[in-house]
Amino acid sequence: MAERPETAVETGISTVLVVGAGTMGRGIAQVAAEAGFCTLLYDADDAARERGFTAVHDAWRRLVERGKRDETQVAAFAERLRVAENIAAAASADLAIEAIFENPVAKIALFRELDAICPSETLLASNTSSISITRLAGATSRPDRFVGMHFFNPAPVMPLVEVVRGLRTSDRTAERAAAVARAFGKTPVVVQDAPGFVVNRVLLPMINEAVFALSEGVAGKEAIDEAMKLGAAHPMGPLALADLIGLDVCLDILQTLHRDLGEDKYRPAPLLERMVDAGLLGRKSGEGFYCYES
Ligand code: CAA
Repeated sequence: MAERPETAVETGISTVLVVGAGTMGRGIAQVAAEAGFCTLLYDADDAARERGFTAVHDAWRRLVERGKRDETQVAAFAERLRVAENIAAAASADLAIEAIFENPVAKIALFRELDAICPSETLLASNTSSISITRLAGATSRPDRFVGMHFFNPAPVMPLVEVVRGLRTSDRTAERAAAVARAFGKTPVVVQDAPGFVVNRVLLPMINEAVFALSEGVAGKEAIDEAMKLGAAHPMGPLALADLIGLDVCLDILQTLHRDLGEDKYRPAPLLERMVDAGLLGRKSGEGFYCYES
């Protein structure tokens, strides 16, 4: 018999605060509210906060239109999702998941603030894709109650959460984060704190190689993507996936792998660097390897 997923009550967590209302934060908030958690969505930028909140409601409306959920279910989800107008709302969170932009200085400043506001038993989690969990945890007074919870884009669809153990993450914290991931309907995989964790360490070199192949004229972008879809059974080609992830995020992860692992095999493709410089960031900017209608 399939294992029954934990409920909000069994994880000992009832209120989840998601900080950062961009693509990942809003997706995580959607998943948390759907899973039965009281969910607070906060972003320091008022407009971003409202955009994120509206985007979750739009996603729920589409689910109803396509017959995936009914009005009653979505009304219950919506009841559980609130916008937090102020970071002080962190005082009521049992778990705070950070999903702001990939800047270590900004993340450390945020975690210091959360550490000061949240009750001592509150778990702090980061959705970072490339910054050391040990480093972020070290900025707080609770490195044992600090963990990575790395979700994948699109968060409502992708079934994995990498639960990343920093050097001082306790067994209990890792277990609780895994239980929350299961309660979210995801499968947790526990990994150690190393550059790129598992997925990005394996995935990003492939994307980078596809960019090298494109720039060397091995094949056109559609041909590269089609080849990987049909020849390796990937749901989308590596260049389309780079556009989905964001070319700036891809570059950032590759730079981290290159710097922290010290191997030339992680050197970012010059074409990727040039595209980021040109503001061609993928879907979020309207153009990357492909063009997207607004
Ligand atoms: N938000 C919510 N739901 C979405 C969505 C989104 N952005 N995009 C697609 N979906 C849903 C659709 O509603 C649909 O749901 P149903 O099956 O219930 O109808 C389902 O996903 C399939 O969507 P589509 O039929 O429109 O399209 P598809 O079958 O081509 O799937 C995809 C789209 C899920 C994105 C698929 O192409 C895929 O899995 N791509 C790979 C994505 C991936 O590898 N992500 C990880 C990136 S790495 C990362 O995120 C980590 C990091 O740190 C960089």
